[in-house]
Parts: sequence; structure tokens; C-alpha cells
Amino acid sequence: MGNSFSHYFPYIENELHCENVSLKKIAKDIGTPFYVYSKNAILDKINRYKKAFQNYPTLICYAAKANSNLSILEIFRENGLGLDIVSGGELYRGLKAGFDPKKIVYAGVGKTDKELLEAVKAGILSFNVESFMEIEVIDRIAGSLGKKANISIRINPDVNPKTHPYISTGLRESKFGIDMEDALKAYEIALKKKNLNVVGIHCHIGSQIMDVSPYKEAVEKTVELVFKLKKIGIELEHIDIGGGLGIKYRPEDRPPEPEDLARIVIPVVKETGLKLIVEPGRSLIGEAGALVSQVLFLKDKGEKHFIIIDSGMNDLLRPAMYNAYHHILPVTKKKKKVVADIVGPICETGDFFAVDREIDDLQRGDYLAVMSAGAYGFSMSSNYNSRPRAAEVLVDGNEYFVIRERESYSYIIEPEIKALQKTSGEVE
Ligand code: LLP
Repeated sequence: MGNSFSHYFPYIENELHCENVSLKKIAKDIGTPFYVYSKNAILDKINRYKKAFQNYPTLICYAAKANSNLSILEIFRENGLGLDIVSGGELYRGLKAGFDPKKIVYAGVGKTDKELLEAVKAGILSFNVESFMEIEVIDRIAGSLGKKANISIRINPDVNPKTHPYISTGLRESKFGIDMEDALKAYEIALKKKNLNVVGIHCHIGSQIMDVSPYKEAVEKTVELVFKLKKIGIELEHIDIGGGLGIKYRPEDRPPEPEDLARIVIPVVKETGLKLIVEPGRSLIGEAGALVSQVLFLKDKGEKHFIIIDSGMNDLLRPAMYNAYHHILPVTKKKKKVVADIVGPICETGDFFAVDREIDDLQRGDYLAVMSAGAYGFSMSSNYNSRPRAAEVLVDGNEYFVIRERESYSYIIEPEIKALQKTSGEVE
């Protein structure tokens, strides 16, 4: 597989492939832009997680927000994983994909009554509760259904995960979780509620974490609290340590492996004897995906050389939102290199994929692949500028399957047409 950026995206005779399928062939068949995912890359990551945690009772709950395509969710479900959700929409997808509700955990600071009702009805494994008010509301909703809801308190361990500030979630000033000092009180209140089972404790410190030491600090603080709770007779069933493991975005990146996480976390959690839950998203799917796009125009402005492509920040928001680096590969390798800004068609200066990047001398009509785009790529995409969202493709060995069709213009405006029809119906 040579010197490729990714084992699952090899160059075969100078042409970039996903597993054994030529990206150029897919582009010619279905057009661009499209997201492409390697099924075997996903399976490889699943197996690494399973192996890393095999000697300790652990439930791996895939964080659906990273990529919630039904066919992707099915891969995780088929392989025995649970699901971490943050909305009613993700619950809906998870149930459609066949997940056992007893393997679904639900976090998020702002769950609506409707969402809570649906999840209580489904009988999920745990609500990861983020405020005192939420405790009251879940108790009331469960009571109205004559059911008991399982809850865990999401604590905010005040640990710096040393990542981008927008994706740091475990700092005191962030909106997430309940502060350590208030956690005991939250448990005491929850325990008095008739319609709640208090089952666990949850924390999540951030995302794209490249050094596992902050996990140690967070888990130690969590375990300390578990012992405090034990002392006053509060027995839990599990500790959920969230997700966050980083992936390779730059060729030189060496992200930690699931084994590194397990090695640091298991010995600490073991002291409690509680079951472990982990919620990886990005590290299960990020490197398995790429966004394939076609060059529309080349343009020179003074010193600057622009390569304008047919996907934009509506397809992949990460560079615009976090100034994130994504490696970009030509689908067909060229000998000559240029330095260029690779930009999208959207009417925003922030609509760029790369700035002053050395890249092969791409010409109009050539294809390129934005790598490590499997997580927070499609799932954060939008219809900005009335652009249909991209198609999604899953590759398995020699075969590829369209797992989401490219949206059409009529699909985008359908809810507006429906609304118009209703209004005109009422007027008549
Ligand atoms: N659990 C909870 C409670 C979370 O909030 C998240 C991610 C995860 C698990 C999964 O984290 P992961 O393993 O994927 O790092 N859009 C941003 C990332 C936002 C992450 C939000 N929470 C990005 O594109 O970098």
C-alpha cells in the first residue's frame, strides 16, 4: 500500500482508491461531491476498541453525532456496540438501526420534554443528566408514563483536555455537566425521586484528544466521587468516561490508540468494580472517511493561487469552524506541485479547505479527496446556499454501495412547498 496517508485509501497505479475501489470510478458513476467510507477501516477500529477493553466489563457506545448514517449505525450495532445519543433524532435513528435501548445512553444539556418522553418510553440504559432542573423534569415525565427512568449524573471534572477550545467540554466554565462540588447534592436529590433509578456517573472532557493523561485526571476525580457516594450508601452500576480520542489529520500525527486509553483508565475504574462505558465517535469513523470533490476552476490573484472545488463549508464545516486541518490528496497523482488555497463555492471567505497548501498541480475536472472526514463531516453538513447535501458511499473490498443519495433541489424545498400548499388550501 506504499506511502499512502491511510492504509484503507491506497494509491494503486497512481490512482487513489478506497479499499479496492477507484474513487475516480465512483465519481464518474455518481458525480461529486460525495463522502466515501471504508467498511474495513471501521471494522478495524471496532476490533481495536473491543480488544483494548476485552478484559474489563465495558460497553462501547458509539457517539452517533460523529456520523449517524443508518448504514454506518448498523455496522456498529451488528458488531455489538451500544449508542451514545444527544437528541430525539439520534434516538429515532438508533432505534431504526436496531439498537437495543438497553445499550443507549443519552447526554446533552438541553433535552426537550418530547425528547425525554420518547427516550423514557424506549427504556434507555441511562440519561446522562446535566443539570438539577433536568433531574426534576425527567422524574416528572417518567412518573406521567408510570415508568422509572435510569439516570447518571454528568459531572464536570474541570480538566483541560488540551484540545481546541470549541471542543473542550470538561472545563468548569463550559455549559456541560454538574460541577464536582454540587454532584453529591445532585445524587441525593435524584435518589429521593420515585421515578428515577440512579445507575451511574458520566463525564466527557472533550474531543480530538491527542494525549491520554487528562483522562487519568478526569477518571481519578470521578472514582473519588464514586467512593464518596459509596460511603453514604449510594451504589452505582457504571462509570461512563465519554469519548474524545483523537485521530490522524496530518500525516505526522500519531494519535493515541484505544489500548492507550484502556491502559490508563481500567486500573483506576477497577478499584470501584463498576462496569465501564466509553463513548467514542471520531476515533471509530473519522479516518475511515473522505470527501471526494472535483476541481471547477483555477484562479490566480496576485501571489495567490486558488483551486475552486465543487464542495464547500456546507459539506464539511470543520476548516471554517475550527480552522481544522484536513489532509488533501489528488485522486490522480501528478508530478508537478503548486501552492494554493483550496476553496469552495460558498459566498463566505471562511469557505476554505486549505490555505497556502502544497498540492499536486490539479486542473479543471480533476478530483481530490479531503481525508479524515468520516466524523463530523456529513453529520454537520447543511443546505447553505441551497446546496443539496452530498451523497454517501460505503466501500467493502471490491464493491461500493450508495448509503445516502445526493439530495435534489426538490427535496430541499419540499417542506416549503408543503407549507405553501397548506396555506393556500386554508385561504381558499
Ligand atoms: N460523548 C459525549 C457526551 C460527547 O459530547 C461527544 C462529542 C462524544 C461522546 C464523542 O466524542 P469523540 O469521540 O467523537 O471525540 N464537531 C466537533 C466535535 C464535537 C464533539 C462533541 N462531543 C469536531 O468536528 O471536531
